[in-house]
Formats: sequence, structure tokens, C-alpha cells
Amino acid sequence: LTGYITYDPGYKNTGATKSAITFLDGEEGILRHCGYSIEELADKASFLEVAYLLLHGELPTQAQLDAFEAAVQKYTVANQALLNIAQVIPTSTHPMSELSALVGLMEGQYSTDEKEDNILRLLAALPIFAAWNYKKSIGEGIVAPDQSLDYCSNFLKMMFAKPGEAYEVNSIVSKAMNKLLILHADHEQNCSTSTVRLIGSSHASLFSSISGGIMALFGPLHGGANQAVIEMLEEIKQAGGDTAKFIEMAKDKNSGFRLMGFGHRVYKNFDPRARIIKKAADDVLSALGVQDPILKIAQELEAAALSDEYFVARKLYPNVDFYSGIIYRALGIPTNMFTILFAIGRLPGWIAQHQEMMTNKEPIGRPRQIYVGATPRAFVDINKR
Ligand code: SDX
Repeated sequence: LTGYITYDPGYKNTGATKSAITFLDGEEGILRHCGYSIEELADKASFLEVAYLLLHGELPTQAQLDAFEAAVQKYTVANQALLNIAQVIPTSTHPMSELSALVGLMEGQYSTDEKEDNILRLLAALPIFAAWNYKKSIGEGIVAPDQSLDYCSNFLKMMFAKPGEAYEVNSIVSKAMNKLLILHADHEQNCSTSTVRLIGSSHASLFSSISGGIMALFGPLHGGANQAVIEMLEEIKQAGGDTAKFIEMAKDKNSGFRLMGFGHRVYKNFDPRARIIKKAADDVLSALGVQDPILKIAQELEAAALSDEYFVARKLYPNVDFYSGIIYRALGIPTNMFTILFAIGRLPGWIAQHQEMMTNKEPIGRPRQIYVGATPRAFVDINKR
């Protein structure tokens, strides 16, 4: 995968990460990958096309895309040693913990010198690991990858086909999956991407770096929010749809309750991905004929929050996680696997950011601190304390 994004590595490490991959404008709600708007990419590209863009800095020609897809498909095979391990991981383990463990164990299966192969192996492996986890959770046998299908269709087949039975991929579902994965592909120096870069900066392997990124994404304040949003909307539904009560709770610091899917470290305007996903939620649910009462609750909650001074004053808007779970549910993805879908989408971004850092020979990460602790003092014997 030549053509990594490079820039003058001579800059002094000012603490801010310099990257040529993703541009965000939090005030204006702008997101671009290598200059292309997220709106155009989500509407016109395939997920592997965006993955190629993130890894190379340029959209692929048809020949380059065909070769890239074929290369990922070549590695879309089950690793028996890892399957044996996956099958003995207890189902009480959260899918994200299992995913992180299996990715970390890839290091024992492949040579870390095979840099380009390992990128392809990772892109191929995450949907396989996710499908293994799902099949195990429902007590069904696994379905082998189908290398004749595109990336999203193969993932859906591995997830939802019955072993040994024919399976017809619903094009509405695979298109929705494609769009959702693109919308999660990269997001500048978020918590999990910074984790991948920091681990990678110690020259731990790409597998170890991605394994760490998965665990960072697992947190409910980060990627885990998509699962927390659905749990919150279900709770509101159980409470009779009383959105006003939950808005008041979210404003009360002592309640310990936050409006999951709202607010962002950078966006102090609408998250552009949330706008796209909100529209897609309407389109996908109506195309599939799915009536999900929590969609209406989400819309009411959003309207109530966006007209409430507390949220407006703090510039708290829906983020990428607010509506994504509603679509995942309509696609048949279980709630505890939503964050795995986020990880599958974010993987090319993590890899591209890791490669950019390695290509530019960045020093080992060492976040600075401001010391605010005790001034120097002499040791006191224990019998005098
Ligand atoms: C992702 O960084 C990325 O790019 C991440 C991500 C990506 O693609 O990688 O975009 C993905 O992680 C999206 C965020 C998903 N998380 C959630 O939806 C969880 C709920 N959101 C919050 O926990 C919070 O908004 C954060 C963590 C997302 C952002 O936290 P900030 O910017 O540090 O906000 P803050 O904690 O400084 O809060 C500022 C004020 C506080 O009130 P005051 O102290 O000023 O009175 O806003 C309040 C907060 O209490 N606040 C909320 C709130 N989020 C912030 N109040 C109620 N509900 C919320 N969701």
C-alpha cells in the first residue's frame, strides 16, 4: 500500500498531532477525509473505497479498487487457531472484549513484518470475529466467509445465514451497512485513535495497537455510547415515553444521568454524521417496513433537548451515536454488538493513522503534564506520622 500520507517530519512535537487524513471543524460541523466531504463519501462511495482513500490519501481507480477488494477477499478466511480460542471464550464476555483479545492474538499467528498483508488481514478479520461472536451468542454454528460477495454482504451473510442454508442478502440492508461503516471510518484524534497512535508509537505491533484502540472505543463515553443510547431510549419507553423527565434528569448534575448520544468533545454544532444517520434511519426503517417506537422517542428527545436552554447554551447536539443504534436494530444487529460495528467501521481510520505516524517516524508518545502535587519534603518515620 504505497503512497502513505507524508508531511515534513521535522516539525517540533508541539503536543498537537499533525495529520493529513481527516479534517474536522467542530464549530461548523464539517468532516472531510483527505479533502472529500463525509456527505459525498457516504452517498457515493463503498466502504472499501473509503478505506483505500484513508490508507493512500487518494480515491482508487476502478483497477486499484478491484485489486484492493480482491486482496481483502483473499484474506477473508477463518483462522482455525483463533476460531478454537473464540469458541471457548465465555458468552458472558462482552463482544468488544472478545474482539480486542482476538485481534491481539493475531500477533501470534502472523509475522509482524508482513505490514501490508496484516492490514488486509485485519480488514478481513473483524467482520469474521464479529460473526463468530454473534453465532456463539445464539448457539448457532458459524457460516464460512463467502469470498464471492462484497465486504458488507459477506459480513451480513456470516452473521445471519443459517449454516448450510441459502441466504439472500437484502440490498437495502447491505447499502445501509455500507453507509454506516463509512460514517465511522475515521474521526481525527478521538480517544481510540489517539490510543492506537500512542501504543503504536512504542513500536508495539499494529495488532497490539488496534487491540488497544478497540478497548478505548468500548467505553460508554466513546463508541460504547451507541449501545447506551438504545438502552436509554428503551428506559424512556418503559417509563411511558416521558422524554421531559429524562431531559430534566440530564440537566441535574446529581442525577448521574447523561443524555447518551448527545454532546461531543469537538462538535459544538450538529455532528454531520448524525444528520446523515438520522435521515438514513427514516429511509431504512420505512424501506424495511420496520416500525420502531424508539425512533419516535429519539426524535422527540432530540426536539426537546434542542429547544432547551441547558443543551443550547452548552452546544450539546446529537452525535454519531444518537441514531446509529436505531438502524443497527432494524438490520437485526443485537444491542451489545453495536460497538463492534463501530470498530469495524473505524478500523481503516485507525490503521491509516497508525501508518501515518510510523511512516513519519514520530517519536514515542509522551503526553506532557502540569505538576500540581506536594512541594519537596523530608521523609517522616512511621512512628511520627
Ligand atoms: C464519540 O472524539 C470523537 O471524535 C468521538 C467520536 C468519534 O467518532 O470517534 O465522535 C465518537 O465518542 C461520540 C460521543 C459519544 N458519547 C456520548 O454520546 C456520551 C454522552 N456525551 C457526553 O458524555 C459528553 O458530551 C462527551 C463525553 C461526548 C463530551 O464531553 P465534553 O466535551 O468533555 O463535555 P463536558 O463533559 O465538558 O460537558 C460540558 C457540559 C457539562 O456541563 P457543565 O459542567 O458545563 O454545567 O455539558 C454537559 C456537562 O455536564 N454535558 C452533558 C452531556 N454532555 C455534556 N449533559 C447532559 N448530557 C450529555 N450528554
